[in-house]
Amino acid sequence: MNHWDAIWLNVNLATLDGQSGTDPYGSVEDGAVAMLDGRIAWVGPRAALPAGWRAQVEHDCRGGWLTPGLIDCHTHLVYAGSRAAEFEQRLQGVSYEEIARAGGGILSTVRATRAAGERDLLRQSSARLAALLAEGVTTVEIKSGYGLDTATESRILGVARQLAAACAVEVKTTFLGAHALPPEYAGHADDYIDLVCEEMLPAIHAAGLADAVDAFCEGIGFSPQQTARVFERARSLGLPVKLHADQLSDLGGAALAAQHGALSADHLEYSSQASVDAMARAGTVAVLLPGAYYFLRETRLPPVAALCAALVPMALATDCNPGTSPCTSLLLMMNMACTLFRLTPAEALAGVTLHAARALGLQDQAGRIAPGLRADLALWEIERPAELAYAFGANPCVGRYHADTAVGTPA
Ligand code: NIG
Ligand code: FE
Repeated sequence: MNHWDAIWLNVNLATLDGQSGTDPYGSVEDGAVAMLDGRIAWVGPRAALPAGWRAQVEHDCRGGWLTPGLIDCHTHLVYAGSRAAEFEQRLQGVSYEEIARAGGGILSTVRATRAAGERDLLRQSSARLAALLAEGVTTVEIKSGYGLDTATESRILGVARQLAAACAVEVKTTFLGAHALPPEYAGHADDYIDLVCEEMLPAIHAAGLADAVDAFCEGIGFSPQQTARVFERARSLGLPVKLHADQLSDLGGAALAAQHGALSADHLEYSSQASVDAMARAGTVAVLLPGAYYFLRETRLPPVAALCAALVPMALATDCNPGTSPCTSLLLMMNMACTLFRLTPAEALAGVTLHAARALGLQDQAGRIAPGLRADLALWEIERPAELAYAFGANPCVGRYHADTAVGTPA
């Protein structure tokens, strides 16, 4: 019976499945993984393989480690231009918020993105995606939010869908129309929220361009009341929500997200204990973004101990964007989550696999090596899984396998 499309042998597994206190990686030394029709069909110790198995392709992993394909669950990677000049200003002491209030920041990227054609946007974004994939990423979330009008928001999400088709990667798209107030609505934020709810969101949903809806709840973004309106509209269309919450101040964003059953609340540096408790009750994932924390030279840490105590799952992501995290390395985020936020290397790996899948509503599809899940895998030339978070600037990825590429191809 056991005739498979592919098998991985001579390999150790960090399955992230059935994590226990003694082995948070769910390790199987000298294991085997088999794939049929793009799904994981068998996983376990090689010695326990059923007699008489056959596979069309045998991958010899040379004693390396196989993990679930990495999941970058929060990016803004489709945009045009760069904000290096603002980086220089910030290093001179001008704050991120001051730059935003002066019409720069997100709005400077909006100007560049509105002016860019689709081909140009695709070219600039493909380069960033390629860097992520080279580190074993098999699923990436991509937000809009640099268009702030229906045509440009649709173009950004359309480019995200094109990237999925071209690059053997699972892409989940998120509509972030409520990212900043476009200049044509200056002084009329409620009117812009009307536009988001009554025109942009329905149009983007009808075109099948959004898998979820996000907003930026902040002094320089939108109020909790405005955010709630976007969430209610999204939910009425059957779309899950997530939120940029408590990044620069505590507006109770994470609690608001939890009240709306959000998949995730992201950033969280200023989140209160009450917000943490609300997330725990709602099953909302905490997405930590150490790149933005680092690049903004933030000193207020997200409440990691409180999140752990409340058993809120913690995911990690690059937040790849031109203003607060011009970064395309999820491995670097794992290292920073350990050094800056005091996560363990095992928590960091769970943050870019198991919990990142949940942050996208994909927990039954990806994020673990387990029977029935997509055969999205990454192969690493390492001796133990902690090396993934330990080294920074290195890339030990030697294979990337995506379920839709028939039998899997090395990176
Ligand atoms: O996740 N804070 C809001 N959004 C982005 C930054 C966007 C930008 O500065 O271009 C973030 O940090
Ligand atoms: Fe972000």
